[in-house]
Amino acid sequence: MNIIVNVDKNWAIGKGGALLFPIDADLKNFKRLTLNKIVVMGRKTLESLPDGKSLKDRRNIVLSKTLPETEGLHVCRSTEELQQLLASQDFADMTSDDVFIIGGAAVYAQLLPLCTTAYITKVEATAQNADAFFPNLDKMPEWRITETSELFQDKEKYRFVTYKRQPQD
Ligand SMILES: NC(=O)c1ccc[n+]([C@@H]2O[C@H](COP(=O)([O-])OP(=O)(O)OC[C@H]3O[C@@H](n4cnc5c(N)ncnc54)[C@H](OP(=O)(O)O)[C@@H]3O)[C@@H](O)[C@H]2O)c1
Repeated sequence: MNIIVNVDKNWAIGKGGALLFPIDADLKNFKRLTLNKIVVMGRKTLESLPDGKSLKDRRNIVLSKTLPETEGLHVCRSTEELQQLLASQDFADMTSDDVFIIGGAAVYAQLLPLCTTAYITKVEATAQNADAFFPNLDKMPEWRITETSELFQDKEKYRFVTYKRQPQD
């Protein structure tokens, strides 16, 4: 499983239900990586998408205990149900490499232990009053950087950094 997230210098990811630093090239990179794959998100992240609608050309799975069954997406009531769904016949044509955890904070925290690759967009800025955070992978010895892009400049400076989980002894 993969995790994909845009963080600021303090690993903040959101404020008031919205993204901190939407950057066009980052959203394009997100689309390139997730297109035709499985995206897994929390109910609040679904609500933050344009019109609260699932992402086009991706198989959308939403974790929620409250959302009614909705056309065009799978709703899982627990992480156990998510794992059962991913192992089911419905997803027999996909592997765990095709699964992208796309947020938010609650879902990242629960599913990071199941992930082996993390695509982190590191924005060189510090958000004020952020209220949603991602675990700091630089403080987790099992996660190591395997690729770092050049520094790009948009509204903010940012780079794409790939982390991989290292096998533990
Ligand atoms: N920077 C980024 O790349 C990025 C990406 C995505 C999101 N975000 C930001 O993250 C923030 C949202 O994060 P969040 O933590 O508040 O919300 P969230 O993780 O998107 O959604 C939380 C909801 O998901 C459901 N849920 C979570 N775990 C569950 C489980 N084990 N079983 C069943 N349902 C479960 C619950 O829905 P119910 O209440 O319906 O049960 C819960 O209230 C926003 O600011 C958003 O913009 C940032």
